[in-house]
Amino acid sequence: MSFSLIACIGKNRELGKDNDLVFHFKEDMKFFREKTKGKTVVMGYNTWKSLKETPLKGRTNLILSHRDLNSLPESAKRLENLDSFIKKNSTSAEEIFVIGGASVYKLFLPHAKTLYLTEVEEEAKADVFFPTFKKEDYDLTTLKSLTENTVKLNFNKYIKRS
Ligand SMILES: NC(=O)c1ccc[n+]([C@@H]2O[C@H](COP(=O)([O-])OP(=O)(O)OC[C@H]3O[C@@H](n4cnc5c(N)ncnc54)[C@H](OP(=O)(O)O)[C@@H]3O)[C@@H](O)[C@H]2O)c1
Repeated sequence: MSFSLIACIGKNRELGKDNDLVFHFKEDMKFFREKTKGKTVVMGYNTWKSLKETPLKGRTNLILSHRDLNSLPESAKRLENLDSFIKKNSTSAEEIFVIGGASVYKLFLPHAKTLYLTEVEEEAKADVFFPTFKKEDYDLTTLKSLTENTVKLNFNKYIKRS
């Protein structure tokens, strides 16, 4: 399984603004919780800050940062050796979720087998974007589509062809 990226993006791959999310959909939050429950999640320092430095419950939280990050809560750790972490887990049986933000998605995209993208059929003002990727290199399955608050969401799963 190795690395899976999971994100909610707009029509132009909008991810966030002012270090917060641009979209807040209940169904997307639920999907995110179900997918990542019990798993290891990897995030960048800005995303960690946006979570108010509170680990996501029931998951092992790994944070990428050049800072020391002293006195982290028990279920959160600084991801120290990125290269060996990627090497060790690229073909692991465990599915490790990369949960953002933009810089960390970009970093892990070449190593990820699966992308779970909740694609929102709407535009938003944003200052960070999901990286571009070659859709033709992936097999796409739409897991579900639904409308929340009159906005259509497509829960798409992209699996990289080997
Ligand atoms: N729509 C979604 O699904 C979604 C999901 C998650 C986040 N977001 C949004 O994305 C935005 C944050 O994204 P971002 O790109 O600004 O920040 P980010 O990727 O969350 O964090 C960036 C920080 O991570 C650390 N980092 C990154 N690469 C590293 C490396 N190779 N080694 C060590 N540390 C590394 C650095 O922290 P230091 O400066 O401490 O070294 C860097 O400043 C927010 O707006 C957030 O709300 C959206």
